[in-house]
Amino acid sequence: MAQRKQFRAIKGTRDILPPESALWNRVEQAAREVFAAYGYGEIRLPVFEQTELFAHSVGATTDIVSKEMYSFLDSPVSSTSEPAAATLSLRPEATASVCRAYIEHGMHTWPGNVKLYYIGPMFRRERPQKGRYRQFYQIGAEVLGTADDPAMDAEVVEMLMAFFERIGLAGCTLHINSIGCSNCRPAYVEALRAALAKVKDKLGADSQRRIATNPLRVLDSKLPEEQAVIGKLPRIADYLCAACRKHFAAFQKQLELRGIAYEENWRLVRGLDYYTRTTFEITAPGLGAQDAVCGGGRYDGLVELLGGPPNIKGIGFAIGTDRVILSLQETGRAETEFALDVFIAWAGSAAQQVAIRLARGLRGAGLSVEVPPAETKFRRALDLANRLNARQVVLIGPEELAAGQFTVKQLASGEQVKLVEADLLAHLQKARRRG
Ligand code: HAM
Repeated sequence: MAQRKQFRAIKGTRDILPPESALWNRVEQAAREVFAAYGYGEIRLPVFEQTELFAHSVGATTDIVSKEMYSFLDSPVSSTSEPAAATLSLRPEATASVCRAYIEHGMHTWPGNVKLYYIGPMFRRERPQKGRYRQFYQIGAEVLGTADDPAMDAEVVEMLMAFFERIGLAGCTLHINSIGCSNCRPAYVEALRAALAKVKDKLGADSQRRIATNPLRVLDSKLPEEQAVIGKLPRIADYLCAACRKHFAAFQKQLELRGIAYEENWRLVRGLDYYTRTTFEITAPGLGAQDAVCGGGRYDGLVELLGGPPNIKGIGFAIGTDRVILSLQETGRAETEFALDVFIAWAGSAAQQVAIRLARGLRGAGLSVEVPPAETKFRRALDLANRLNARQVVLIGPEELAAGQFTVKQLASGEQVKLVEADLLAHLQKARRRG
């Protein structure tokens, strides 16, 4: 007989199971609440787009587009009027899609700045390691409009910090930089290229290749043997035009105004081509090499580049949810939540009826309740309740029914009380609030 094939998740993808998924929900819910408080609305985007959209925006020579995208040819369904085959890609990021949607829906006619957030999976064929996956998740936000005030950049960062504080992610560091604009950056890139050409022999193969394709990316190198050479390269701050210099100084002042600590990092150039001026990243503890939990910046020319109206500015970020969860876990801040509020153990058919009625009432009041489908001995029921990580157990047997009182046991402390039905809900809710 042929052996049955067993399937496993594809390399770089994984299943997120309970109870960890409860932590994911808590983190995503916090983002929704914090972002709504800053006036952002959710945008739900497709998971695949035309490959060209990413080539145009993220950049054809970036690692993301040139090596890491999952692309496929989408043949038209025969006998339909669909256009010819197109090359599509699973989205490696969502800023491009947000700009595409902004243009497609004429959002420049909406009042004020358009503030959008998204939550969902992204796909990059990277080498999987701790904190790096091929299907990973981002929580991102973008602001699009005609204004490019540095106060907006700072407010975006303020919102991020408020989110990290809300979920209890401590020990984060904010790194900031300005990478100039189309006026001043070309001169810097040329100066960098010339300086790199002189030290080419001291660089590895990747950096050597990047001298021609994208010299800024050399600054990203983490190779220990390249660090001394990179430290002596020209710095963008010395090449910024007056307008960019003023913008960067005002951004820093706006951060200070908000009491946000930061570190300037002249090597923070980011791996996507669309950035102008402000770039930033946030690192968190407990993550090893992949310690960036968030990256973002300004992309003032992108909407126009994608065929939209001129003069639309943009700024945003994306948080790597996988890494945020990992950091919470590694720093002991992912408190294990009780999987269950109440386990109702019953004995006898009269008790089952009461248990079912009780459970319905408690669930209606928002508690999570488990009622075993078959009668079990109380000792075994308590054992199961423990293993299910229940907070409380309600015991209903003939004795309880006769007395008109239920036995309620708190599993962590072993504390036991007898209660009439009218007092039960308040007692269980109080126990839940105490944690
Ligand atoms: P990014 O820096 O490419 O920026 O990604 C943002 C964050 O996503 C990273 O800091 C990291 O936490 C997470 N991330 C990236 N790749 C992986 C991976 N393979 N596995 C796990 N986590 C990962 C962007 O995507 C831009 N769209 C951000 C942005 C929005 N800029 C302006 N607006």
